[in-house]
Amino acid sequence: ASGFIAGADVREFERITDPVRATELAQLGQQVCARLAGLPFPSVAVIHGFCLGGGLELALACTYRLAREDSATRLGLPEVRLGIHPGFAGSVRLPPLVGDLAALDMMLTGRTVSAREARRLGLVDEIVPERHLLHAAETFLKSGKPRRKAPWYRQVPGWKPLRTLVVRLFAPRVRRKAPPDHYPAPWRVLDLWRERATEEQEAQSLGELLVSRSSRNLVHVFLLGEELKRRGKSQAHGVEHVHVIGAGVMGADIAIWAALKGFRVSLQDQKPEILARAMKKAHGFFKSKLKEPRAVQEAMDRFMPDLEGHGLKRADLVIEAIVEQVEPKRELFRLVEQKVRPQTLLATNTSSIPLEEIGAALKDPSRLVGLHFFNPVAQMQLVEIVRGAQSSEESLARARAFTGAIERLPLDVKSSPGFLVNRILMPYLIEAVKLVEEGVGITTIDQAATEFGMPMGPIELADSVGLDICLSVAEELSEPLHMEVPDKLRELVGQGHLGRKTGQGFYRYNARGRRESPPPDKTAADIPITERLVLRLLNEAMACLRAGVVADADAVDAGMVYGTGFAPFLGGPMSYIDSLGVTGISHSLHRLSQEYGPRFKPDAGWSQPELLQRHRLSSNPP
Ligand code: NAI
Repeated sequence: ASGFIAGADVREFERITDPVRATELAQLGQQVCARLAGLPFPSVAVIHGFCLGGGLELALACTYRLAREDSATRLGLPEVRLGIHPGFAGSVRLPPLVGDLAALDMMLTGRTVSAREARRLGLVDEIVPERHLLHAAETFLKSGKPRRKAPWYRQVPGWKPLRTLVVRLFAPRVRRKAPPDHYPAPWRVLDLWRERATEEQEAQSLGELLVSRSSRNLVHVFLLGEELKRRGKSQAHGVEHVHVIGAGVMGADIAIWAALKGFRVSLQDQKPEILARAMKKAHGFFKSKLKEPRAVQEAMDRFMPDLEGHGLKRADLVIEAIVEQVEPKRELFRLVEQKVRPQTLLATNTSSIPLEEIGAALKDPSRLVGLHFFNPVAQMQLVEIVRGAQSSEESLARARAFTGAIERLPLDVKSSPGFLVNRILMPYLIEAVKLVEEGVGITTIDQAATEFGMPMGPIELADSVGLDICLSVAEELSEPLHMEVPDKLRELVGQGHLGRKTGQGFYRYNARGRRESPPPDKTAADIPITERLVLRLLNEAMACLRAGVVADADAVDAGMVYGTGFAPFLGGPMSYIDSLGVTGISHSLHRLSQEYGPRFKPDAGWSQPELLQRHRLSSNPP
């Protein structure tokens, strides 16, 4: 029912440890496809729903491909996302069918295409409504038409003298997303294509990649995401109408996202101009995502600005995203509780305030949970489901289900300072600011982090989140977690330099929010920048695990990869710790603590190796 073939069972990959065996298995797949391709009569693949990876490779071995006219039909070769490439001759059969550039694009990005786009590319021969499928298949089989071939001009980039040039054109784009040391798979795709590789070479290369560290970790991350998705599906949320309060950076984005995903949304703010800005943003966002004017209009109809808070009476879920201060939040929830219906679920997007403190304002604190989204909402898939001491199981289950319904990943965390992700991130950000105070250039710091594999550097991240938010989180965490708040951060916030949103933070931004290049740095060559940043992060990750903020090591990995983009090829902080070895890390922490002070003192968790045992997100909540 879910489609044609959605590809391999990824769980099987983890059981294959020998590259030779992996190559043999790919060859078996190739043989099956070759038998299909070599039949003495034509064959047709009739495709509906998912047709991915090995599934598409099987379809490619047929003479013809028909796709059911249906918005759910998706075709693609997403292998690179798991650190591998096609292994059932897909890299050989795709280019002649759709042309070299389209084939490279599909294999390098792993993106999936709709039936309509597949038709345009020549990946399928025809799109047919369900009721005509059999008839169309028969017609194709009897037609005697030759197998489709891309027109000559789409094969020009594959001419031998041009191939090296084409690879050179693709390389910068690939390098930006996938540096070769971290993500070898797309580079292998380019190699195979340039060399016009045979099926045998494809299988050989796949065998090596399948057992590589990069692929192992990407598979680990993928499976964690699947597990979180499953959790978001297993209960009922009973939500039709969402009321969001606070239309700032986060509130507006949460409201817009929920409306995009089909919910009726009212968005409240004290200031009409902020609501107007949110409406404009919503329209632009819906247009870019939905394209069709009717769908855009429908989404706008679901999205209501609500200065007075009329939506509260009808809301099934209220999400608060106002300033990060306890008193205003309490005050607000006191009023909200008076207006909503008894079954309405209440949620706060607070980044750092313990739920119990906010819940103290409520007559029934069991209905309050944390729904902690990450910035930007449209890109970061994670939502921390924060369990306060009084949150009821039912409230938590509904929050998880709602998160799943808006296609985000719910991760259970205990209400404790900074929850999981911000707590782990904060020492890393603070260390970055300390490096600035020591005179290290901001671009040098950011570059060290991106070279390690982070999607953006800590300084740029702080600027994007907002230095005021960073400061209030740092202050909230400073006492319970003994984290120091750097003066530099206070200074910038004091001057009103709050980051991207005010046009200046550590960096300067132009009117369109683009970062201006700062003057070149004087580099501090003898300072171990990457080590200092990363070890503070790992030490805090270990502290969270020991303190039971989440249920197990896998939850730490899932949180950091899906909430911050932590280097997916490393599998998350805990997988990275596993690969480096606990002893080595605690050794380095000791050394740094002697040189730089007690903030590097190894957490007690380093001497409890059992903590690292993986459970693929054990079912016990934290
Ligand atoms: P913001 O300052 O951009 O927006 C807050 C909005 O709330 C403003 O538009 C303000 O007019 C409105 N507001 C304040 N009091 C109100 C009230 N009583 N009734 C109605 N509207 C009111 O703040 P931002 O960054 O969106 O943060 C909101 C919450 O989300 C905070 O709790 C923050 O910790 C949390 N958060 C922020 C993240 C970030 O990256 N900025 C990430 C995750 C959570």
